[in-house]
Amino acid sequence: MRTTGNDIEIKVNGITICYDDLGEGSIPIVFIHGFPFDKSMWQPQMDFLKKTNRVIAYDIRGFGKSTADNEEASMGLFGDDLIKFMDALFINKAIICGLSMGGYILLNTLDRYPNRFEAIILSDTQCIADTSEAKEKRKKTIKQIEAEGLNNFTELFIQNIFCKESLNDKKVLVEKIKKIILSTSSEIITGTLNALAKRHEMCFLLREISIPTLVLCGKEDIITPLIQSEFLHNNIRNSIFHSLDAAGHLSNLEQADEFNIHIYNFISSLSIE
Ligand code: MLT
Repeated sequence: MRTTGNDIEIKVNGITICYDDLGEGSIPIVFIHGFPFDKSMWQPQMDFLKKTNRVIAYDIRGFGKSTADNEEASMGLFGDDLIKFMDALFINKAIICGLSMGGYILLNTLDRYPNRFEAIILSDTQCIADTSEAKEKRKKTIKQIEAEGLNNFTELFIQNIFCKESLNDKKVLVEKIKKIILSTSSEIITGTLNALAKRHEMCFLLREISIPTLVLCGKEDIITPLIQSEFLHNNIRNSIFHSLDAAGHLSNLEQADEFNIHIYNFISSLSIE
């Protein structure tokens, strides 16, 4: 029998995944959060879409309330967790939405398990791998966190993920995100930075995608810039693309109403019951 509600725990792939499962619908929408956040970053989408759809948001291993084991983090491992999580919930196919690292996990998993995807939403993400400069930067960040903890990393990260308007006008949101980052273990953050640096380029996959695809991106995203979303859109057949004004990397939170409407319209256009 299906368990619905918030903060449900389930054993998957040797760890405990914590998730929210709300609303009704034959094909659920599964939300994968970015780095280094947790499932609560999908709150506005869960609240809005649960009225019309079954919506699931889960904490990636080590983040939020999900546990981790000693396995080295990688997009492949995160993707295996996703598929085993869907298996455990008896979900054969889902509409999967990933933001940033959530999008990297989505593409990695779509390549290996195409039959588990009904449609995809790629938000503020990209298919390229890290450049050698980006890899070096991640290495430096890992060393910095190991030496001094998360405070400076978090301050700088916050300045980069929100657009100027959000930093000035959405202080409650900014504080909430800061708290999420600071409550994550340093080892999980450094382990995931290493996984991000080692991730493979997935751009070869774009031309093979034939399922309905929505691409969304904040116009002021400087982590995964608009040009990367335009590239996704230009290379995925029949994909739909919207860029959001006054939004940086966390477009789903910075312009939640607009983001929700784009998802709602996209889902409504799919021929599913
Ligand atoms: C994310 O938001 O998931 C990360 O910032 C992505 C990245 O650093 O490449």
